[in-house]
Amino acid sequence: MSRTLGRLLVPGAAGVIGSNFVRHLTRTRSDVEITVLDKLTYAGNLANLAELEGRPGYRFVHGDICDRDLVDSLARGVDAIVNFAAETHVDRSLMDPFAFIETDVRGTAVLCEAARNHGHEVFLLVSTDEVYGDVRSGRSRETDPFRPRSPYSASKAAAEHIAQAYAESFGLPLLVTRGSNNYGPNQYPEKLVPVLITNALDGMNLPLYNDGSAVRDYLFVEDHCRAIDLVLREAPAGGVYNVGTGVETSGLAVAEAVLDIMGKPRSMIEFVADRPGHDYRYALDVSRITELGWEPQVTFAEGLEQTVRWYREHEDWWRPLKSGEYWEYYRRNYRPLVS
Ligand code: NAD
Ligand code: DAU
Repeated sequence: MSRTLGRLLVPGAAGVIGSNFVRHLTRTRSDVEITVLDKLTYAGNLANLAELEGRPGYRFVHGDICDRDLVDSLARGVDAIVNFAAETHVDRSLMDPFAFIETDVRGTAVLCEAARNHGHEVFLLVSTDEVYGDVRSGRSRETDPFRPRSPYSASKAAAEHIAQAYAESFGLPLLVTRGSNNYGPNQYPEKLVPVLITNALDGMNLPLYNDGSAVRDYLFVEDHCRAIDLVLREAPAGGVYNVGTGVETSGLAVAEAVLDIMGKPRSMIEFVADRPGHDYRYALDVSRITELGWEPQVTFAEGLEQTVRWYREHEDWWRPLKSGEYWEYYRRNYRPLVS
């Protein structure tokens, strides 16, 4: 099985993973035509797509995946949709669940409907390991039940259910990837790794929820993009794939590694009040994607070094983001530890 898919609609590619994905595509394929549809929320940034400007076959459309007419017209001229568009930050989903339900659930339904109407070769939904919920022991397999615990993860689980319903009821050729925690260049400074790096660069404390013991599988964004591209080209329709490294790292270990790379003292770590409903562990069984021919190429130590270097060299990218609404969010989110 090898799909060519010359014309792609890629919603949400002004965000971190989507922008790395379309840059990956342009590096690895000369013939692909890419239409990006993005609402440019606080997390979307046209600067992430700057190097695609003027490339033959590339087009950016500013718009919402919930806009049925717009999505339908864009879907008419493509072979496949690869959807990255979503509200993605768990802490924000605790403040405004409805934005997540609107984009992640309804928006996915709009995209599925358009893909169905235009007989697309494939519909790839970029999902998350958070659909499995907190996993205190063992590793989640693709066949495990969903146990989402935040409005974000519940919205992503609902999106998967909608897409699966389109596959069962209407024959939508669905592919799903469930990635673990991404980090790397161009990540909005609200997720753990860029919060820690940019705070350390600014001489601010590094906030860790509770005691920093929650573990995640940190996946370098370029490795995630290679996996999504492989699934898109090679996986049989109906395939669902976990994507992760299999390595578990606590928040505390991430913060210490950032400080060590930057030569800063551990005393900059500040334990703050916990995230409500905090999932303490995600862990994936990645045998399916491994069998398909993928493995991560970047270790966490290498990826973190590269990421710290990127944020050091791109203050012009992140500094303007840490202003205005960002600090309102920050003050609301980070509360002193109450014992
Ligand atoms: P991000 O927050 O960096 O970017 C999301 C993008 O979607 C932004 O460009 C935003 O403007 C756009 N968007 C939001 N609502 C939209 C709408 N209604 N219409 C059109 N565009 C809209 O997100 P990310 O981290 O790059 O995540 C991309 C996808 O991967 C998401 O579906 C997310 O659930 C999934 N995912 C993320 C991670 C992670 O660790 N970041 C891990 C696994 C899966
Ligand atoms: O697992 C994949 C998911 O990873 C994606 O689907 C989500 O879109 C993405 O946001 C991410 O969710 P997490 O909640 O795991 O990522 P976050 O970076 O917010 O937090 C990672 C861990 O670090 C988690 O245990 C909470 C903790 N944390 C986070 C922040 C922002 C802190 O201790 N301090 C912080 O300031």
